[in-house]
Amino acid sequence: MKGVILAGGLGTRLLPLTKVTNKHLLPVYDQPMIFYPIKKLVQAEIKDIMVVTGGNNAGDFLRLLGNGKDFGLKRLHYTYQEGEGGIAEALGLAKDFAEGERIAVILGDNIFEDDIKSYVASYKKQKDGAKVLLKEVPYPERFGVAEIVDGKIISIAEKPKNPKSNYAVTGVYMYDEKVFSIIKTLKPSNRGELEITDVNNAYIRNGSLTYDILPGWWADAGTSFEAYSRANTLVHESRLKNKDL
Ligand code: DAU
Repeated sequence: MKGVILAGGLGTRLLPLTKVTNKHLLPVYDQPMIFYPIKKLVQAEIKDIMVVTGGNNAGDFLRLLGNGKDFGLKRLHYTYQEGEGGIAEALGLAKDFAEGERIAVILGDNIFEDDIKSYVASYKKQKDGAKVLLKEVPYPERFGVAEIVDGKIISIAEKPKNPKSNYAVTGVYMYDEKVFSIIKTLKPSNRGELEITDVNNAYIRNGSLTYDILPGWWADAGTSFEAYSRANTLVHESRLKNKDL
């Protein structure tokens, strides 16, 4: 299985912090934000990784990460997203890299307490389709929200006004090779983006989306100053408990 980290976009919600650098290079407690998703994939034994980036400071990723030696990698692959056409558009750029293999995708601003290795292992045993990881949250309307009936996700709504549950779809997605043909069929949403939620709904329609629920904390560090600050605090608290994130 290969890994894809999505670190494009312009990070406008964190201006002026992102005026001269990319959001994913900002510190979260003692490390640059992008270190956390890389380590999550490496912990799950995914060593063939592509970073999708964008904006004016893409070259700084290379200076910071190089070939990923500090993470035990032989090399890192990079590609560049022009503009901010959405998470699904950014993922589409990894098609040639994936070469028909299954992929684990992680959003560059998502930080997780849990090790995702066991979820990746259970997805590898899944015949085909996709898997998402959910987290119960107090304000689901800020995220993609899963509607669950009889233990199955029957739909996902992107930032709904009236959420059907408290289960947010976090920024870890596992897909088979069909994901790239699904992305080709997508139309831009009201916010002008190709939405990852539309990809996941396509898998729901063909009956092949599974999920797991994360027990530990989850931080979507890049969406607001409040979320960024919370991520810093959670990482700090975990460091005090010697947790390896
Ligand atoms: O964090 C989980 C949430 O992420 C999900 O619950 C939502 O369903 C999903 O749409 C997404 O929502 P956000 O509005 O938080 O996504 P955001 O625009 O912050 O993008 C998340 C990451 O994706 C960001 O760190 C960089 C990457 N990205 C984003 C865009 C729009 C790209 O690589 N390219 C892009 O064009």
